[in-house]
Amino acid sequence: MLSKLVINLIVLLLIIDDISHASWEEWWTYDGISGPGFWGLINPQWNMCNKGRRQSPINVEPDKLLFDPYLRPLHIDKHKVISGTLLNSGQSLVFRVDKDSKQHVNISGGPLAYRYQFEEIYIHYGTENNQGSEHQIHGYAFPGEIQLYGFNKELYHNMSEAQHKAQGIVGISLMVQIGETLTNELRMITSTFNKVIHKGSSTQIRHLSLKSLLPNTEQYMTYEGSTTHPGCWESVVWIVLNKPIYITKQELYALRRLMQGSEQTPKAPLGNNARPLQPLHHRTIRTNIDFNKNQQQNCPSMYREMYYRANKWTPELMSIGRGQYDSVFNSYKNQN
Ligand SMILES: *[C@@H]1O[C@H](CO)[C@@H](O)[C@H](O)[C@H]1NC(C)=O
Ligand SMILES: *[C@@H]1O[C@H](CO)[C@@H](O)[C@H](O)[C@H]1NC(C)=O
Repeated sequence: MLSKLVINLIVLLLIIDDISHASWEEWWTYDGISGPGFWGLINPQWNMCNKGRRQSPINVEPDKLLFDPYLRPLHIDKHKVISGTLLNSGQSLVFRVDKDSKQHVNISGGPLAYRYQFEEIYIHYGTENNQGSEHQIHGYAFPGEIQLYGFNKELYHNMSEAQHKAQGIVGISLMVQIGETLTNELRMITSTFNKVIHKGSSTQIRHLSLKSLLPNTEQYMTYEGSTTHPGCWESVVWIVLNKPIYITKQELYALRRLMQGSEQTPKAPLGNNARPLQPLHHRTIRTNIDFNKNQQQNCPSMYREMYYRANKWTPELMSIGRGQYDSVFNSYKNQN
């Protein structure tokens, strides 16, 4: 009799334990009482979400950019192809590289002091064109943002170990703009959207090449911040590339059909999965966007006359597209 009671009690405790493990990962959202303002309160391990002062995403203002001539080009093993799983997690669309994959994509150079191993992609987007990206440029939110995360392979074994350790993670941010055509690699992902409509559904993506996914630019902005999902760990070196990649209206439409819930209770659309902007708190945003090389070199006063300007994404400019106009920031010389 007593032993039966004890067994029941143990079973109950195991169930509770099971629920609480699942809940931490699943019971956060982008709105309501489990939304971003409450992430740090739901789980004590996520208290940086509320208390942190080096959080992401941020708004990147042109007059906060600091040209750093010592920033190197970023290196990504562009010729490796990777396979993995695209999952609708109910919060985001997440691609993870197969665990047993022998093909590792190294990320190094740029502002990075260590070699990182590419691990996952998060896709953020809006249900309307005027929102979607997490990072903003001069107050402008792009329709979407694709984030490539990697972990510090030299110091740590895996993502879960690295994410709350110093210099643990690199986040590479690709702004997504609407265009007439989209790159082949993005099509490999977008063509599977109809297989991940509901929460928990997933699909394999094979032979994806990061080379073709990345925009054709060496220019970037970089700052130190956090993961934009719980636990908001302040271990991320962010690199925001200075050119967007393009998605068509049709693909965006397919993306907006994805739901937060299961087939039985689909709940709301998955879109608008962006954490609100976080204060900069005196952090520096460095960039390797150089000023016009034809200008006089080595003249310190030059820098006072040079400045950055955020591109204005007017429909006219977007229809010209892809040319010299499609940078996130441009550098200018003051004509006065
Ligand atoms: C990535 O780094 C590891 C360790 O240095 C190395 O063995 C591997 O060859 C690198 N991958 C590529 C494609 O360079
Ligand atoms: C990550 O690495 C740590 C340390 O080696 C290990 O304890 C943990 O089980 C690993 N986690 C995963 C998810 O592989």
